Order: sequence, then structure tokens, then C-alpha cells
Amino acid sequence: MKAIVVTDEAAGTAGMTLDERPVPVAAGNDVLVEVHASGFTPGELTWPSNFTDRLGRDRTPSIPGHELSGVVTALGYGTRGLSVGQRVFGLADWTRDGTLAEYTAVEARNLAPLPGDVDFTVGASIPISGLTAWQGLFVHGRFEAGQGVLVHGAAGGVGSMVTQLARDAGAYVIGTGRAGDRQAALDFGANEFVDLDNDTLEDVGGVDLVFDVIGGDIQNRSAGLIRAGGTLVTIAGPPETQPAEGLAVDFVVEADRVQLAEIVQRVRDGRLRTNVGNVVDLEDAVATFNGTERPKGKTIIRVRP
Ligand SMILES: NC(=O)c1ccc[n+]([C@@H]2O[C@H](COP(=O)([O-])OP(=O)(O)OC[C@H]3O[C@@H](n4cnc5c(N)ncnc54)[C@H](OP(=O)(O)O)[C@@H]3O)[C@@H](O)[C@H]2O)c1
Repeated sequence: MKAIVVTDEAAGTAGMTLDERPVPVAAGNDVLVEVHASGFTPGELTWPSNFTDRLGRDRTPSIPGHELSGVVTALGYGTRGLSVGQRVFGLADWTRDGTLAEYTAVEARNLAPLPGDVDFTVGASIPISGLTAWQGLFVHGRFEAGQGVLVHGAAGGVGSMVTQLARDAGAYVIGTGRAGDRQAALDFGANEFVDLDNDTLEDVGGVDLVFDVIGGDIQNRSAGLIRAGGTLVTIAGPPETQPAEGLAVDFVVEADRVQLAEIVQRVRDGRLRTNVGNVVDLEDAVATFNGTERPKGKTIIRVRP
């Protein structure tokens, strides 16, 4: 099968090549999926699990990519809950060969059925950004209707999902980002927007929840915005500064079939819009990842046109 392969952690996307690899075998509780589309964030290659197994042993040459949509073509021994021919989407395992390939083997529990009226491109854009937004708000962030939520990077992959889910659930949402992201953030449902380059973050006053995707100085300053009992949720690394009377939570997204089903239903109902930017074929993916332009929205690789 055709697959994008990496061997050199230091090289990042520049070390990617399009290669021929054997079709993987579905192990116990796995499904083998014919990949139709895959989502990819260039930052993913900074995650060491792309290059090592769970014990930290080198597993290169490896296939990156964690988000997929496709069709189940085989079941491993003992696999339940999905069947051959079923459309699926979800999050591939972190420490195994991934989704930038014509086939991938994934634990069945990491996938959910993809409804027939949801395009494969849309399906592949949901798993990381959708699950991260859901878990940050409703699991780690302890969100309640009526709260004030500050969403950093509100026009980005994760932030646009957080903004929409929070508004839909009854939040007052303040989005942040660069000056040029204002309109996109408002279109995703932010009530107001803070331009991080030109406005003063501290002018926001207090909020119940900050969803941080940026880290560093922005994350540190955000801790001071948390009201008593509120939460700073971040996906950008452990916070250095704790909220004075609140909680700080750093987390990594997890696969969850029930949450995927909830999220895709909102897409079908028109309550949630995915943030798809570039859509490219597998043959053009390496060049796209290494292009000089930083595309807005999620890059989706169409593995099977
Ligand atoms: N821990 C986890 O489980 C997890 C899960 C998903 C994602 N992540 C990580 O979270 C980060 C965000 O992911 P994403 O898919 O949402 O990325 P994205 O689509 O690039 O969105 C990030 C947004 O934040 C903006 N931004 C970044 N730095 C900024 C700054 N200093 N000032 C103003 N705006 C800034 C970006 O603008 P520009 O594009 O103009 O920079 C972009 O609009 C990535 O680093 C990703 O690897 C972690």
C-alpha cells in the first residue's frame, strides 16, 4: 500500500516520504480500515509517540497520522461492535502506524460509525479537534450553562469547535487570536473577540473557564483571569501558573466512541461546523505539509479520491 513514512524525529515534516509499505494486519480487537481521508496537524510530528512504541522503543520507519475516516475491511480476533463494510471515523492509536496510508489497523473501540450522510472529508476533520474540544469543556473544564468561557485560538482547529460547542451549551464566549481571525471567530459563534497582538487580555476581567491552545505567556496570563472555582484547561503543556482560586488542567485527547457519536450528530443537525481548510491527495500531502504558506483550518488528506 501507499503510505507516508517517517524515520527521523528531528527532521519533522521535511523527513516525510511517500513509500510502499505492507498492508497491516488486524490484531485482536482491531479493525483494518481502508482509509478514505485523514486529518493531520503538522505539529503532530513533535509527539515522540510517532517514532516509538509504548515502551519508548524505536519503531521507525513509522506511518504518522491519527485522524481517519474510512471503511472497515477486516476484523481481528474477538473484535465486536463494528462490521466489515461499515463506514467509520475516529482516532488511531498514538504508538502504532497511523492514518496517512491506504490502510490502517486500529482498536475498534477507538472508532465510531460514520453516518452515511457525512462526507469522509468531514469525518476525518472531527476526531482530534472535536474530541479535544468536548473533553476540555465537558470533562476537564466542568462547564455549566451560563458560564463565561475564554477560547484561545478561536478560529483554529480546536478553538473553533470549543467556541461552537460552548455557545451551543449556553456559554458567553470570548474568542481570541490574531487580528485577521476576528471575523472567523465571530462566525463560529464567539460573542466577542480579543486580538492578542493589539488588545489587552487582562481587560477581559474574569471568566469561569479558559480553554488554552497556545501555552507560554498567554497561558500564564490566562491563569489570572479565572474566577473562584473556575478552570484553566490547556492542551499546550503543563501550566506554570495556577489560578489563585481555581484549577488548572493539562490533558491529552482520548478516543471515545460515545463522544464521537454526540459530536457527529451535532454536525448532522447543523449545530456544529467543522473547520476544514486544505484538502489534498495523498500524493501531494508531503509537499503541502512542507509548503511555505500556513493554511487556515484543518488540512485533510484525501487518501482515496
Ligand atoms: N493535548 C492534546 O490533546 C491536543 C489536542 C489537539 C491539539 N493539540 C495542540 O494544540 C494546538 C492547537 O491545535 P489546533 O489544531 O487548534 O491548531 P490551529 O488550527 O493552528 O489553531 C491554533 C490557533 O491559535 C492561533 N494562535 C497560535 N498562537 C497564537 C498567538 N501567539 N497569538 C494569537 N493567536 C495564536 C493560531 O493562529 P495562526 O495560525 O495564525 O498561528 C490558530 O488560529 C497545537 O499545538 C496542537 O498540536 C493538543
